[in-house]
Amino acid sequence: MKKIILAVPKGRILDEVIPLFEKINIVPENEFFRDDSRKLMFKTNNKDLSLIRVRSFDVATFVALGAAQIGIAGDDVLNEFNYNEILKVLDLGIGKCRLSVANKKEKMKKEYQNKGHIRVATKYKNTVVNFFAKKGIRAECIKLNGAIELAPKLGICSTIVDLVSSGKTLEENNLIESEVLLKITSKLIVNKISFKVMNNNISKLIEKFKK
Ligand code: PRP
Repeated sequence: MKKIILAVPKGRILDEVIPLFEKINIVPENEFFRDDSRKLMFKTNNKDLSLIRVRSFDVATFVALGAAQIGIAGDDVLNEFNYNEILKVLDLGIGKCRLSVANKKEKMKKEYQNKGHIRVATKYKNTVVNFFAKKGIRAECIKLNGAIELAPKLGICSTIVDLVSSGKTLEENNLIESEVLLKITSKLIVNKISFKVMNNNISKLIEKFKK
């Protein structure tokens, strides 16, 4: 198979991916840049390369299943799924942020340290359960898909685990960052089987990103 699909995440990271594409001469069709476009798959200036623009968590799933051969995903997503079928081939140095524990301001920092059980609002259930299990704490996760910082504000828990970049969202919601679980950058990922049977187009694309 010659044609390849590259999965890119929607949202903030896309703003950093676009300049990267410019540098390595990947030119997507115009609709790719339009937020109001309902299109999900996009052509590029290379007839053998198409792009899909999906949620960050779904980049990993599409690549693991071989639906997309290559993708761009953060360590947060890769760690949460821990897919065997994915290889990290390159640190792209974009999307720098961290996955952190944060607590209500009025509560003591690291209040969970003396507890055997904790309630945590997060998108990252597996990561959180494993992280607290190592401390001997059973984490009960409230799975949210966004606006995690609202959970302590509205009283359903006092601890969250979420992405922190500037720290502004935590501050505005009266939360204090107490511990970093993971430092994150975006990685270029490749489906393991696609990597093994490496066709020319995939290796050329990886080389371009490496340069
Ligand atoms: C992310 C993350 C935090 C925020 C952190 O949310 O979940 O809420 O950014 O950034 P900051 O430290 O610079 O304030 P995003 O805006 O991607 O939307 P979401 O809440 O829907 O996940």
